[in-house]
Amino acid sequence: MEFVFPCERALDSYREAYAEDIAVNKGELQMLIHPDIAIARSESERKGEGLPAGYVPATTLWLVEGDRFIGRVNIRHQLTPSLLRFGGHIGYTIRPSEQGKGYGKLQLAMALDYCREHFGFEKVLVTCDDTNIRSAKTIEANGGVLQDKIENEIEPGVYALTRRYWIEL
Ligand SMILES: CC(C)(COP(=O)(O)OP(=O)(O)OC[C@H]1O[C@@H](n2cnc3c(N)ncnc32)[C@H](O)[C@@H]1OP(=O)(O)O)[C@@H](O)C(=O)NCCC(=O)NCCS
Repeated sequence: MEFVFPCERALDSYREAYAEDIAVNKGELQMLIHPDIAIARSESERKGEGLPAGYVPATTLWLVEGDRFIGRVNIRHQLTPSLLRFGGHIGYTIRPSEQGKGYGKLQLAMALDYCREHFGFEKVLVTCDDTNIRSAKTIEANGGVLQDKIENEIEPGVYALTRRYWIEL
């Protein structure tokens, strides 16, 4: 199991994962971006090119086993007022067919190691919806200390509680 930058080698498998994501999260927020733009988007985001207003550079890493895509993390290079409320330093997903097998915990642990090696963060902020128990357990298993729960407008007129955890590096 290793991290790679999004690449052709794992793209066929990523396409399958994307199809799983569409099937599972039909009509809801999808967790993976379209395979046709995933590689180019990750490269430009990492370099900070063509970012939407208010966005900061971010590094996307794919967790792969051989050529098989398992999950992805997105590490924001700095926090903004908006990321401080929702999103934090690290976002993550495990493909639907591989969830509940321990990969989420492993992937976050590997992302923390990546941050230790490549970024100067002393601690990282990781957030999740208050109702996302699997994600909360994933963060707590990696040393997350709950700072608070704050209300966020996640879409116009829709409010939800967000848990904010800090993990010391
Ligand atoms: C959240 C997510 C990354 C967790 O990864 P995962 O591989 O499914 O989780 P793991 O198998 O590593 O398990 C993590 C913890 O959740 C628990 N868990 C796993 N599946 C669960 C389920 N269906 N219900 C409740 N708890 C569950 C595990 O027992 C473990 O907790 P433990 O350490 O106390 O035993 C993954 O489920 C996912 O991608 N979900 C959809 C996208 C998402 O929510 N992303 C995070 C946004 S903040």
